[in-house]
Amino acid sequence: MKALVLAGGTGTRLRPITHTSAKQLLPVANKPVLFYGLEAIAGAGIHDVGLVVGDTAAAIEAAVGDGSGFGIRVTYIRQQAPLGLAHAVLVARDFLEDEDFVMYLGDNFIVGGITALVGEFAATRPDAQIMLTRVPDPSEFGVAQLDQSGQVIGLEEKPRQPKSDLALVGVYMFTPAVHEAVRQLKPSWRGELEITEAIQWLIDNGKAVRSTTITGYWKDTGNVTDMLEVNRLVLETIEPRDDGVVERDCEIIGRVVVEPGAQVSGSRIVGPAIIGAGTKVTGSYIGPYTAIGADCLIDDSEIEYSILLRGASVRGVRRIQASLIGHNAEVTPAPRVPQVHRLVLGDHSKVQISS
Ligand code: G1P
Repeated sequence: MKALVLAGGTGTRLRPITHTSAKQLLPVANKPVLFYGLEAIAGAGIHDVGLVVGDTAAAIEAAVGDGSGFGIRVTYIRQQAPLGLAHAVLVARDFLEDEDFVMYLGDNFIVGGITALVGEFAATRPDAQIMLTRVPDPSEFGVAQLDQSGQVIGLEEKPRQPKSDLALVGVYMFTPAVHEAVRQLKPSWRGELEITEAIQWLIDNGKAVRSTTITGYWKDTGNVTDMLEVNRLVLETIEPRDDGVVERDCEIIGRVVVEPGAQVSGSRIVGPAIIGAGTKVTGSYIGPYTAIGADCLIDDSEIEYSILLRGASVRGVRRIQASLIGHNAEVTPAPRVPQVHRLVLGDHSKVQISS
């Protein structure tokens, strides 16, 4: 069995961060979200992994390399434009050969891995196996309709009027039967070849499509709210560790990870939280569910329930909450009266000012 991991999407809902960074490399508890997926694949005993990449290919290759760090062998597959998940299967045809495969969306996050699912698929071997989960906002996903016996009878991509609240999770298992299905597709209203429609084609052509409804935790980390939630969830599981320098004048409460080379002084940190390598925290409060990346500077400030990427700095600001702050971004107070907001924001930035 092989794996096909999709990391070619552009991440429009995470702009402006994704203007310059691959969404699959955005960190959850200071580790790229894509790495959790690769670890889950390796954990399921799959070693031959095709990684579909687009415009951000160079950054993803630099981060993942040949995959040996994960115990896998990675083959990079270039997708010239993000033309859909089924298009990714088309361009990966040679890599996939005639083997069964798991397709894993690089921005999806599944707690508990995929080992049991892969085992179940290998044992029963339907033509396709999909995972479903109940969501409050089904129209943002692929949606499945089941009959009374739990059999999948219909699938729709981002329907205006969803027929159920069962969303397709971004992990799919296929036999080579899917190749004929993806060849039949025409672009959808959003101009993409939809894997959802390929699975519908399999159903319409009498192939066995099985579904498993998962109750465990799943998130598509495509927007800031979900990124912060996944970050919270992973931070819930960290074990405290101090590999940096925490001065005696600090108060550390709960589970806090201080990475090598980090320096904390005159501060109060309430976990779960992680302070990245080489970061300096002085005279500040870092609250629960905060992941501060490497080489950041936090001085005389308060931050909680937030993610800061490498090199960000926050000085003299209180209190920052539920925020995603990009690489090398600088947050400071306005120097003096008049009380105005002076902003230099990237394209598609979203800022909420409370005053
Ligand atoms: C894709 C699929 C959708 C699925 C979702 C899961 O959506 O098209 O059916 O429910 O992933 O993350 P997209 O990320 O392309 O909006």
